[in-house]
Amino acid sequence: YALLEQGAPAEDAVCAAIRVMEDAPEFNAGRGAALTSEGIVSMDSCLMTGVDGEVGSACGLTTSKNPINVARAIKEKTKHVMFAKPGDNLLKEWGIKLCDSEYFITPARQESLREAQSNGDEWEKHGTIGAVARDASGNIAAGTSTGGITNQMHGRVGDSPLPGCGTFANQSTVAVSCTGIGEAFIKVVAAHQVSDRVRFSGENVEDAATATLDEVAAHHGDGGMIVLPAVGRGVVAYNSEMMNFGYRSAQGGKVQG
Ligand code: GLY
Repeated sequence: YALLEQGAPAEDAVCAAIRVMEDAPEFNAGRGAALTSEGIVSMDSCLMTGVDGEVGSACGLTTSKNPINVARAIKEKTKHVMFAKPGDNLLKEWGIKLCDSEYFITPARQESLREAQSNGDEWEKHGTIGAVARDASGNIAAGTSTGGITNQMHGRVGDSPLPGCGTFANQSTVAVSCTGIGEAFIKVVAAHQVSDRVRFSGENVEDAATATLDEVAAHHGDGGMIVLPAVGRGVVAYNSEMMNFGYRSAQGGKVQG
């Protein structure tokens, strides 16, 4: 919010907020990301700006300290949208800080993996992080960063890096970032669906988010989303037991954790 007060673009605030969570081991992104069935991290990220519809996304990252910076580099330094497992040389060329596996793997995540593997396929499912922001010019942006799902199969990719599924921004509708069981969010193209409901059905943002989560539930998924329209109040919606969130606006703020 400090960046927004200084007049920075929405994507700067989104990336700054996400980097704080990626650096904190409590969140399932960056340091402390969930571990795959092979005991390594495989991180995904996406950044999209509403005003120009530009987007960058990356999946299968194993060495990038801040995966959201990779999404931003792809968006701003290449003519492409999505990279799978970009090599360290390319990441270095983009100015990405690299870390070895010890940085990412925490004892808590190793314990979660042990539990998941001893309970069969009982995945620990949650913890993806995201941010949405609207800047002083009224432009909106969304970003998402995740380690995916504990004990996920090698090569699995969830909704977070898929534009329109876990992350989406359109200046005429909303900026959206989702968390939850990625497979269900992909099947209903969740983030884009919220935008379409607002755009074509005239639903208000809250109804659009709730109706989309009902479709996620119909595909045996749970989770939630943060949704910020270009005009008006943002919405936090979830059908999981709980979701941690925080927001700040000119009218005040709240953190629920
Ligand atoms: N929602 C994050 C994932 O399923 O990977």
